[in-house]
Amino acid sequence: MSRFSFLLLIIACCSCQNDNEKALQNPGSDKGEKKYDLYEPSEMALLMNVMYDIQNQLKGSIQNGDSLSNFPEEILKIHTAQMSDFKERNQAFEAYSHLFVEKFELIFDTTSQVPLKKRYNDAVNLCLNCHQTECTGPIPRIKKLLIK
Ligand code: HEC
Repeated sequence: MSRFSFLLLIIACCSCQNDNEKALQNPGSDKGEKKYDLYEPSEMALLMNVMYDIQNQLKGSIQNGDSLSNFPEEILKIHTAQMSDFKERNQAFEAYSHLFVEKFELIFDTTSQVPLKKRYNDAVNLCLNCHQTECTGPIPRIKKLLIK
């Protein structure tokens, strides 16, 4: 799949938000707003897609036995990135984001005795844990990142 159609797919199935629910909550809100038709990804949504790509590249390197890239600092933006209007940084998000970064950093710990594949999968499982709390749409895609 080309990068472009991949992006379209992401936009098409951005699934944290349930448009029907929104519509039900705001009956008669017909101010001509096209807000939800023109989906504009939040800083966090864009970051998540970058994180997906990084994790996918790591998967490839680990499977091929290549050496890993340097620690991708972008990941740390999870602590500051702006979320979509309909999302908030609640306690669960804060807790999971710290756990995720911890697990993610372990992938790059060259002194660790834990097998690299396990450390990698632990980080992916944290993506999944956080997503199970509020943003379940991307879960099937994230599962594909696991190394069997
Ligand atoms: C701490 C919680 C948390 C963690 C950890 C997390 N996510 Fe997310 N993810 C979210 C939230 C919240 C959103 C919705 C962001 C928004 O719409 O502003 C999201 C959105 C996404 C999206 C959809 C983006 C879009 O285009 O709408 C993808 C794909 C995604 N995450 C993949 C991942 C991957 C891969 C990982 C691990 C490398 C990960 N996430 C880790 C909370 C998390």
